[in-house]
Amino acid sequence: MSDVIRNIDDLPGVGPVTAEKLRGGGFSSIEAIAVSSPLELHEVADITESTAAKVIAAAREAADIGGFLSGEEVYEKRQSIGRITSGSTRLNELIGGGFETQAIVEAFGEFGSGKSQIAHQLAVNVQLPVEQGGLDSGAVYIDTENTFRPERIMGMAEHMGRDPREALRNIHIARAFNSSHQILLAERAEDLFEEGGSRLLIVDSLTSMFRAEYVGRGTLAERQQKLGMHLRQLHKIANVYDSCVFVTNQVSAKPDAFFGDPTRPVGGHVLGHSATLRLYLRKSKQGQRIARLVDSPSLPEGEALFMVTEHGIEDK
Ligand code: GTP
Ligand code: MG
Repeated sequence: MSDVIRNIDDLPGVGPVTAEKLRGGGFSSIEAIAVSSPLELHEVADITESTAAKVIAAAREAADIGGFLSGEEVYEKRQSIGRITSGSTRLNELIGGGFETQAIVEAFGEFGSGKSQIAHQLAVNVQLPVEQGGLDSGAVYIDTENTFRPERIMGMAEHMGRDPREALRNIHIARAFNSSHQILLAERAEDLFEEGGSRLLIVDSLTSMFRAEYVGRGTLAERQQKLGMHLRQLHKIANVYDSCVFVTNQVSAKPDAFFGDPTRPVGGHVLGHSATLRLYLRKSKQGQRIARLVDSPSLPEGEALFMVTEHGIEDK
């Protein structure tokens, strides 16, 4: 047996059955195990907590979970941040110049508020040359609601003077059928990023499957745990592959008993503290939309008006 630890099967104490269970529970990478707790592994893989502790220790040895960087290293890493134009200069300004890489941007709002339209537009705009607000790259699109529309992409591309077929060829789309499948697709997506050529990952919607499957208060902890794990995977893609991760989250404009205030979307704290930027979208009159930047650590709170038109996302 090789003592090089590349994936979870290589960890001492993890046989094929345990590996399978760990994967099934969402612990499919060395990194995921390195940051887990013995109790979590005990629960998903039926191993004792003391075995779990050893597995975690080995994963920590092997994992690239990073350590401290100097301030200068952080500064240099930030110099490579790329930005994707939304199509609206006001919306771009609100978020500091466009949708940035090395970040998860969450758009939340009620149905029809423009979340999926922004997703489509970003998938087209990321393909533009840098001087036109793109990253000269492709996009990966995880569609959980079956709302991806190739025709809409073609229309937007045409409006930007791009070849519509080419625009479609540069987007990899997968439909997720349930939350576990969604998690799996995000893991697969990593391979696409590894190959190169993509710098945008869209998950539309991040939360709908979780919301549908984990109903009732008793399931909240499990839902948050799964969602947290999914988000860690998304952060990894954002950071390791210098990519923008754009996720959507539907909230009701009328607070209901279970999900509460619309500015506190489903996903609660796991999501709230996990997205780098959070945009609250609402419909306004005559096709206008209002985007509000919510609890950003580095940008002033504010609002921007934009439009969803036949061409896509535009300024009012
Ligand atoms: P949910 O997924 O239901 O939560 O909504 P969402 O926030 O994703 O809404 P979405 O981005 O799909 O916005 C839908 C709205 O965009 C429609 O109600 C239209 O107002 C607008 N829209 C979508 N396609 C077109 C189009 O081709 N032309 C124009 N003018 N508007 C469009
Ligand atoms: Mg949508």
